Amino acid sequence: MNKLLIIEDNCELCKQLKRGIGKEYDVMFAGDCKEAIALFYRYRPKVVTLGIGLSPDENGIVEGFRCLEQILSHSPTTRVIVITEHERRDIGLRAVQAGAYGFCRKPIHMSELRVIINRAFNLLDMEEDNARQQSVLEQKGCGFGGIIGKSPQMLQVFSMIRKVSLSDVAVFITGESGTGKELVAKALHNMSLRKNGPFVPINCGAIPENLLESEMFGTERGAFTGAHARILGKAEYAHKGTMFLDEIGELPGNLQVKLLRFLQEKVLQRVGGREDIAVDARIISATNMDIAKAIGEGLFREDLYYRIAVITINLPPLRERGDDIMLLANLFLKRATEEFCKKTRGFSTSSLKILKNYTWPGNVRELENRVQRAVIMSDSPLIEPADLGLTENSMPLMMPPMGCVTLKDARDRLEREMIISALGRQEGNIAKAAEVLGVSRPTLYDLMKKYSLSRLSPNPERQGTNDGIQYGQQ
Ligand SMILES: Nc1ncnc2c1ncn2[C@@H]1O[C@H](COP(=O)(O)OP(=O)(O)O)[C@@H](O)[C@H]1O
Ligand SMILES: [Mg+2]
Repeated sequence: MNKLLIIEDNCELCKQLKRGIGKEYDVMFAGDCKEAIALFYRYRPKVVTLGIGLSPDENGIVEGFRCLEQILSHSPTTRVIVITEHERRDIGLRAVQAGAYGFCRKPIHMSELRVIINRAFNLLDMEEDNARQQSVLEQKGCGFGGIIGKSPQMLQVFSMIRKVSLSDVAVFITGESGTGKELVAKALHNMSLRKNGPFVPINCGAIPENLLESEMFGTERGAFTGAHARILGKAEYAHKGTMFLDEIGELPGNLQVKLLRFLQEKVLQRVGGREDIAVDARIISATNMDIAKAIGEGLFREDLYYRIAVITINLPPLRERGDDIMLLANLFLKRATEEFCKKTRGFSTSSLKILKNYTWPGNVRELENRVQRAVIMSDSPLIEPADLGLTENSMPLMMPPMGCVTLKDARDRLEREMIISALGRQEGNIAKAAEVLGVSRPTLYDLMKKYSLSRLSPNPERQGTNDGIQYGQQ
């Protein structure tokens, strides 16, 4: 039976929980934080429910949050479900922000709580399964640190990760959306000396500008109307761990200044506070925007850029990764058939052709979504192009002449994309790429020169680097 730890100081509620769900799990109870941590160490439950109003601070939440923090700092993958008073949805949300898996409000509906708990256990099982499959692939040399790939481009990325993971340098990850930037950030964290500390992602593009500062640096009680309690920011939660600043190119100017100060001095001030709080966090950031252009246009501070980009890792788009496309497609297919209990065996010949030649503007994320959807939709043993939502004819139209104003622009873009894709598929072999493109080798060389493409890393930004690692000035 799955082990479930219930942390709750209200006897009535404990009884209610025991009656409601006691038979389905191997349940243990703790009445305070100390007892909870002791049980946690001894039995390592994977799912925990935590009454946030924990004694000795029954009317407050300080003790509850302390307990949450302690559990997660010992074991970041534990799913903690927080139980709050009915009217305190804000506290539930804050707990989730601090790393809780979810929350449930009083009065507790057992059926609802059961769904949340079961889902937490199921997800954990699935993650363990995925990790097993992943490690089998990695043992065969098809991936590294949870990232699947064996194309020369990805091997170069793995070598970079290996080199920089043990140091505390600021790493800047670039690449189109869906290329695995967050995955690389996590791999860097998991291989670092901070691996037992928290990994705290913050998406600078997804949070409204006026909330971003308190989200990052926290808020002091009374900083503005409605600020009833002190709220810790993500940076503080990242103490002794890694803060992952996603879409950093979207960071507004005033926050760029504050972040720079934080990176230089390693202290922060909460919004409305004066106290300097020392925080030791490693910074990894990512963007899919052209940061050089943003700097040129005065939208991104150059001094901040040098701080965050001591080392840059470029993730190649999926269309440049050759056989990795099929490696990933098969992995996602296997996962989805297991998850949705389907009997799909593989891809039809025409699907295979399309998968290899499609430009994948949404990269690995798009591949994962399309394969998953196809498995759900398909009733036959082989996935057909229609299940993937792709047709051979629609492929060239899928190429992104977006943002092109003139026909010449669009033609150039298309030409460049097709060359990149062909070089990727042929793993940099110019003769073969020329053949599939239907041009002579000298013509392909000329075109590559025209579009500043090199053989292995057809991305011009990646040229002139030492072993693929770009060193920024500091
Ligand atoms: N090389 C890879 N191997 C396995 N899964 C990958 C790989 N690259 C990306 N993914 C998966 O694709 C999705 C998008 O990755 P993510 O890291 O969020 O991309 P980005 O941050 O660049 O948009 C995630 O579900 C991630 O697990
Ligand atoms: Mg991302």
